[in-house]
Amino acid sequence: MAHYSYPGRAGGFKRMRSDNGTLNHFTGVCGQSIYRGDRLPADLVGDYIVCEPVGRIVRRAKVVNQRGKTVLENVYKQREFIASTDMNFRPVNSATGPDVNLYIFDMHRGIIQQGNWTKPGYFLRNRIDSLGLSKNTGHGRIYRVVHEGYKQGPKPTMLQEASSQLVAYLDHPNGWWRDNAQKQIIVLGDKSVVPALKQMAAGQPGTSGKKPSHLGVIHALWTLEGLEAIDKEVLLGALKHEHAQVRRTAIWISEQYLKKNDEQMINAVSELMNDPEYDVRVQLLLSLYNCKTDKAQATVKGIIEQNADNEMIRATKASLDKNEEVRTFGARLAYMSKEDRNLVLNGASIFKSLCGSCHGSDGKGIATGGAMMAAPPLVKSQRLQYDAKNTATRIVLHGLSGPIDGKTYSSIMPSMADNNDEWIASVVSYIRYEFGEPVRKKGVTLSPVVKPEEVKKIREQEAKRSKPWTLEELAQRSKEETPMQEAGK
Ligand code: HEC
Repeated sequence: MAHYSYPGRAGGFKRMRSDNGTLNHFTGVCGQSIYRGDRLPADLVGDYIVCEPVGRIVRRAKVVNQRGKTVLENVYKQREFIASTDMNFRPVNSATGPDVNLYIFDMHRGIIQQGNWTKPGYFLRNRIDSLGLSKNTGHGRIYRVVHEGYKQGPKPTMLQEASSQLVAYLDHPNGWWRDNAQKQIIVLGDKSVVPALKQMAAGQPGTSGKKPSHLGVIHALWTLEGLEAIDKEVLLGALKHEHAQVRRTAIWISEQYLKKNDEQMINAVSELMNDPEYDVRVQLLLSLYNCKTDKAQATVKGIIEQNADNEMIRATKASLDKNEEVRTFGARLAYMSKEDRNLVLNGASIFKSLCGSCHGSDGKGIATGGAMMAAPPLVKSQRLQYDAKNTATRIVLHGLSGPIDGKTYSSIMPSMADNNDEWIASVVSYIRYEFGEPVRKKGVTLSPVVKPEEVKKIREQEAKRSKPWTLEELAQRSKEETPMQEAGK
């Protein structure tokens, strides 16, 4: 339960439940980890731990796999794993330790807001000063969460041990030991352990006579990969492992072969297309998406079609498609709708073939032998700012006659009104996109795109106009239009 009397949050009362003063949203989430030890009760293993220093709580959640989608559920209904009334309790990190207990790191600090919200006169400042909280600094703490009856196990001495001894830890019940053994074996680069690793990766009992757990197999696979000692035989075996996470890992590590269009590997992974576990199908989609052979693309298509009702597969495909678009078009264009993007792309080719002859194909103007330029540079022109949509449309429709910002140009801006709305919309969208300055309204960046319907409206409004605009006339027009219309809202 958080302390009632001091809402140390910039959101103030909006951020609190009215009945008990507790925080109603996470606001400073940090320091997440999965508990991967075995000395706390078994039902904690694999749980998600996350800190909230503003609310002074540590949340524990179950990680639930819903048909391939990972969701978190608080373990305690409307309560928390750890919550403190100590105003200085500021948990900021968590970890499973080498002794297999859970560690919580507490920054232990009176204030946790940015300077902006704690300035003199601000409401938080008054609370801070009345409670003397600004003096509470320099007292960090580390808590160890221990269960009753805990008996300390052996301390790790991995830095002194030989690779052959480290291999056994890859199947340790504590994730800290597994990770560090893997890291150490790879750092040592000692390939003498490759046979032992392959044995483990194949799920065969090692020197202890015990069959490795699926986690041991996964660590053995990644260690082989890290030593650059993985081979197809190991992967082909692992693709058939009974545990889905091993199969998934094997697909993932196979990417080095899939990238090279290795037919045998593509065929082998494709056999998992109907794997009972969604995690495996999702991995297959991820790993094969960029592999362009017919077989690989048939598998990708099959997964997408057969799992059309699965949220995770649909979302995975959407994000892969988005990556592909970013690669092709760059991030800004990729995040536009296809329709908007086409306007901008068509506008670009119009600009290059027509407007560039006066404005320069880079929009910076063309200097003609030291004399005046033919036309003004468009880069950062005020008329192309994102909130001046109609101004740019008017200029392209009916032309413009200078001077422009005090300068005279040798040519004039001709009217483009003979072209249809789609054409005008394209070129105006492109010059705004390429040369205009983005403007944010209400926290959202306005779109540079002008739609053909919007051009149609301006064309109708200005039907009587036959001569080019001057900047004064344009300024007058935008004054007449409300700012909302001008922004195209
Ligand atoms: C024949 C040369 C020429 C061509 C072709 C031309 N422009 Fe212009 N443009 C000008 C001149 C010159 C001006 C400045 C007006 C003046 O000085 O009379 C101008 C002004 C502009 C402005 C206003 C710039 C500002 O800062 O106010 C925009 C926008 C513009 N042109 C867009 C275009 C687009 C889009 C095309 C192609 C569809 C195009 N222009 C084709 C010569 C040209």
